[in-house]
Amino acid sequence: MRIEPAASLRGVTAVPGDKSISHRSVMLGALANGVTHVTGFLPGADCLSTVACFRQLGVSVEQLSATELKVHGVGLRGLQEPSDVLDVGNSGTTMRLLLGILAGQPFHATLTGDVSIRRRPMGRVSVPLRQMGAHIDGREEGRLAPLSVRGGGLRAIRFDSPVASAQIKSAVLLAGLFADGETGVREPEASRDHSERMLRAFGVDVAEKDGYITVQGGSQLIATDIEVPGDISSAAFLIVAAAIRPGSDLTIRGVGVNPSRTGILDVLREMGARIDLQNERESGGEPIADIRIQGGELRAVTVGGATIPRLIDEIPVLAVAATQAVGVTVIRDAKELKVKESDRIATTAAELRKFGASVEELEDGLHITGPTPLSGGAEIATYHDHRIAMAMAVAGLAADGPTVIRDWEAVDVSFPGFGQLLQNLR
Ligand code: S3P
Repeated sequence: MRIEPAASLRGVTAVPGDKSISHRSVMLGALANGVTHVTGFLPGADCLSTVACFRQLGVSVEQLSATELKVHGVGLRGLQEPSDVLDVGNSGTTMRLLLGILAGQPFHATLTGDVSIRRRPMGRVSVPLRQMGAHIDGREEGRLAPLSVRGGGLRAIRFDSPVASAQIKSAVLLAGLFADGETGVREPEASRDHSERMLRAFGVDVAEKDGYITVQGGSQLIATDIEVPGDISSAAFLIVAAAIRPGSDLTIRGVGVNPSRTGILDVLREMGARIDLQNERESGGEPIADIRIQGGELRAVTVGGATIPRLIDEIPVLAVAATQAVGVTVIRDAKELKVKESDRIATTAAELRKFGASVEELEDGLHITGPTPLSGGAEIATYHDHRIAMAMAVAGLAADGPTVIRDWEAVDVSFPGFGQLLQNLR
């Protein structure tokens, strides 16, 4: 992909459906009694992996259009033993949440995925799921995929997660639906709460007790309609692009603004960006708004602590904004970046340096000194990480000449059509 510099971004647009919510709509729809109608579904490779896995588990998923599905729920006990290996592709959410569901099934299944997923830590879910009674095996004692699961006969646990991770929390809560008694999960900082909100939308009683989020084993899910909002993590690339190009005026319609996901808006505002939420509304228990961004000058910021899980996927593009901000931006407490689709501390730093940015890697984050003019002519590697590809495309807009991005197809994981959209907004 060749990215030409852009003076500004203008117009009104929308972004594809939220990836986290799209995955969950298929998973919970599959476990429900009745038919769940999903609109605004993200037809990205990750969510299509979830659809394919559930079909292999005996669930009929009708694809009415690219973004509209009917999931024919089989009920809590209706999944079937798959006759072949389940392939999650590049999707950590599919692998970890599905492990939670499979832990509750009285049959055997094997999960694998691409080279990136087979490097990512799975012990964080196999440990609590084994405590509940599931049999999980895999490379390095079940810490790495391929993983094989023989589930069933689960007992409820109280789990203190060592990391703030929605995938861990969701895996244990989903397994908890199949356990005897009340399962609870507590985390060091709050991670995104889409599972809790959607479980409630399906009629499940999700409570909070002494800091633990709890579900009761045997809770029945009742099918519902899910309208997936635009993904703020996809919108973030456009938001930063507009924020760093003076003269930009961009509105993105219908974006999910769940407070567990809006850290990027808070931090960009602290940096001085002009961001307004308009037309705020709610659908399926998720807040939605139109986001208007106007470009201007930015100043450096320090980000850490409880904000990190609220913008974890936006850090590569936040780093791009920091290259254009006045002063030293410090991002800390973000060790989790090392175990995403790529080691995003290393890959963000390496690729931004190709533009001449001043970036220093920390053990748990980044130091970025700005503003630096970004130089054209960079040849970017994506490491097959969709968010690195898109973050570097945003840097390319602010560069003084064209940028070439290799392995651009990586963007299809979460934002098919991103390249064309960037083009249309000039
Ligand atoms: C996700 C949770 C996040 C995020 C990922 C999607 C989810 O990971 O990085 O892209 O859908 O639950 P954590 O498990 O680290 O919260």
